[in-house]
Amino acid sequence: METLSPLEKKLLLELQKKGGKAEPEEIDMELVKVMNAASWLQSKGLVGIEEKYIKEYELTEEGKKFLEEGLPEKKILKGIEKVKIEKLEKKYGKENVAIAIGWAIRKNWCKIIKENGERYVILTEKGKEEINKKQPEEEALEKVAKGMVIDENIAKVLKRREAIKEKGKAKRKIYLTENGWEVVKQGIKIEEEISQLTPEIIRSGEWKKKKFRKYDVKAFAPSIYPGKLHPLTQLIEKIRRIFSQMGFKEIKGSYVESTFWNMDALFIPQDHPARDMQDTFYCKKPSKIEIDEELIKKIAIVHEKGGETGSKGWRYKFDYEEAKKALLRTHTTVNTIRYIAQHPEPPAKVFSIERVFRRENIDATHLPEFHQIEGIIYEENADFSMLKGILKEFYSRMGFEKIRFRPSYFPYTEPSLEVEVEWNGKWIELGGAGIFRPEVTLPFNAKAPVLAWGLGLERMAMILLNVDDIRMLYFSDIEWLKNLPLL
Ligand code: PHE
Repeated sequence: METLSPLEKKLLLELQKKGGKAEPEEIDMELVKVMNAASWLQSKGLVGIEEKYIKEYELTEEGKKFLEEGLPEKKILKGIEKVKIEKLEKKYGKENVAIAIGWAIRKNWCKIIKENGERYVILTEKGKEEINKKQPEEEALEKVAKGMVIDENIAKVLKRREAIKEKGKAKRKIYLTENGWEVVKQGIKIEEEISQLTPEIIRSGEWKKKKFRKYDVKAFAPSIYPGKLHPLTQLIEKIRRIFSQMGFKEIKGSYVESTFWNMDALFIPQDHPARDMQDTFYCKKPSKIEIDEELIKKIAIVHEKGGETGSKGWRYKFDYEEAKKALLRTHTTVNTIRYIAQHPEPPAKVFSIERVFRRENIDATHLPEFHQIEGIIYEENADFSMLKGILKEFYSRMGFEKIRFRPSYFPYTEPSLEVEVEWNGKWIELGGAGIFRPEVTLPFNAKAPVLAWGLGLERMAMILLNVDDIRMLYFSDIEWLKNLPLL
């Protein structure tokens, strides 16, 4: 009650007076105000608005002429018994005469005969009589002019004669709903109240004497759809913020990388299935990226026999040419190993959120291009529990309370883990992590432990945005995007 405006209250009272139901026009208020108040009351559930479509007619220009001058068959044939058609045509025009005679014949008012090659109209007895009477069409036209209802059969004829046309009219009735009746029965008082506070009202002190209208926070309001960032961009920004707040610095890499940095430097054996043409996009131009032979040699030794890393290596003959092949990076771990190689002195905390490429068939959970959230902590005393703590912290800041770790395997980390989050009662894998092996770090003179992770962005987005098809994230479905809440 306290949230009702004076106009809404007035309308409720008016409706009560009219027995609970009335046409807007019957209400003793300005029509726009009635409709405005009614739609607010409707959104509050206090009134309903019933709408019926009623068929009505209006006169066309032709119809108005008929009404003024009489029907053409009357006008043209009045006072005639027999006349040359040609004569009529000269007076009224060929077309008008044809129309008039056409209707007159249909009504049995006249006949046409031929004499000496001339055409004549001859009025029948019926014609002579009817021509002086008011015709049903004319009566109907008068009714239409007055806004009265006419018989459908005659309406059909008049429509055919293009004398009237249909105009639909919605007939509305406003009625009190059950809740509306309840409010009305409590007794409505209309008193002056303040619904908008202005500087004048405050200055004058008027506000002290008057009542304030309460806000109705549940009142209907139209939806507005302001421009906003794509949800993935919003998500990336949020993640960026979280890592920055946790003391990480953002790094960037490039799409095209050498196999050396993407794989060899990470101790991924050269015959690893992930290197297959089936899984990786290799580039044609450039097909090779030159790499310092000394650098390759260092890594080659580790692959072959372990070098000075304490490892036995993979025990195969390292192929230098293979290392130079150009590819689209398959993971952003290439960013962090490059960073370590350039900054072998600890400590470091860096992250990247960037696109990677894999030869995947597109389906509901796979895309050939997606993003990884990559990061490392490089510092003395860093350990596995710290890695788990950081991941837990990150996911909790993203809103995932329940996560779990499972043992996993990557050629470049030991120990390794897989992160899973619980969603809809299912565990979903979101990424991998581990501590870089000495085979990875020692060739670059990195002596402290490196905690590393690579997490999927799109998978997480699917959960947060509640979509079960990863392609939705790239479809640009405007309706979906418009209605998505801000992250
Ligand atoms: N590079 C791994 C992947 O693409 C993730 C990972 C990163 C694992 C760092 C361990 C350490 O799935």
